[in-house]
Amino acid sequence: MTPRTVTVRVPAKVNAQLAVGPARPDGFHDLANVFLAVALYDTVTVTPADELRITCTGPDAAQVPLDRTNLAARAAELLAARHGIEPNVHIHIDKDIPVAGGMAGGSADGAGALLACDALWGTDASQSQLLDICAELGSDVPFSLVGGAALGTGRGEKLTPLEVGGTFHWVFAVADGGLSTPAVYREFDRLTPDASEPVASPALLDALRTGDPKALAAALTNDLQPAALSLRPSLADTLETGRQAGALATLVSGSGPTTAFLCADPESAQQVAAALTASGTCRTARITSSPAPGATVLPV
Ligand code: C5P
Repeated sequence: MTPRTVTVRVPAKVNAQLAVGPARPDGFHDLANVFLAVALYDTVTVTPADELRITCTGPDAAQVPLDRTNLAARAAELLAARHGIEPNVHIHIDKDIPVAGGMAGGSADGAGALLACDALWGTDASQSQLLDICAELGSDVPFSLVGGAALGTGRGEKLTPLEVGGTFHWVFAVADGGLSTPAVYREFDRLTPDASEPVASPALLDALRTGDPKALAAALTNDLQPAALSLRPSLADTLETGRQAGALATLVSGSGPTTAFLCADPESAQQVAAALTASGTCRTARITSSPAPGATVLPV
């Protein structure tokens, strides 16, 4: 029997390494993108309806587009088109992933809606068919589906799973307003006319495998950070606040403007979050950990 409603939980991500190559002829950039899923989740619920519609709840719900530009809507349309059915579904997103950008919240909703609709409609897509649709939706969407930790190559969509030997503690500082991802890549191109081919860092992969936060802290890098700071200089104050409060490492998350703080343990994460909140250099600070599982259908 097909279910009447399906709920999927799907995580946010941080990039432990984002190595960016020169712009390709198609405008994208080849990456060595080490994704780590973090335990902040959106919950996507799908229910049959007369037509495709989206609703959203959560602290940042007002900033979420409810039209066909939402990746959750596009996921439902792509899956339905492949199976010759109408995407008549109500998608409800309970949003806990910060909307500011850099944590793949929109990508998470795309992957979540895809998995949920596949279960609701009984279309029974294989993992590789789901990953194909995810790649069509966006460069970060395949990782939202699989979670854990993975190296993304190509434009980030070709994934190799990575081993993680422990739990890492993070604080994320959510900035006011977003940063346009294409604009950050354009600024990267302007600042880095001689970008070299991106390569995954062996020290970083080792640190993930051993679960050593100090080794991971020493190996975290983001080639988009100078571009994000150039477009939003105030992020430097947020990074400095976290560093002074004891974070092992600070970095811009993805294309920003969210910033990420790796901490030695949960107590240090509390201190860093408190300092960030008190500083007024960010809208809010969230404590979490990694790795986290990918998109998962929740029991009814
Ligand atoms: O794939 P996605 O739609 O998430 O990408 C958003 C934008 O980010 C692209 O239009 C492009 O400007 C930039 N991008 C890029 N290289 C990548 C991924 C994204 O230039 N590997």
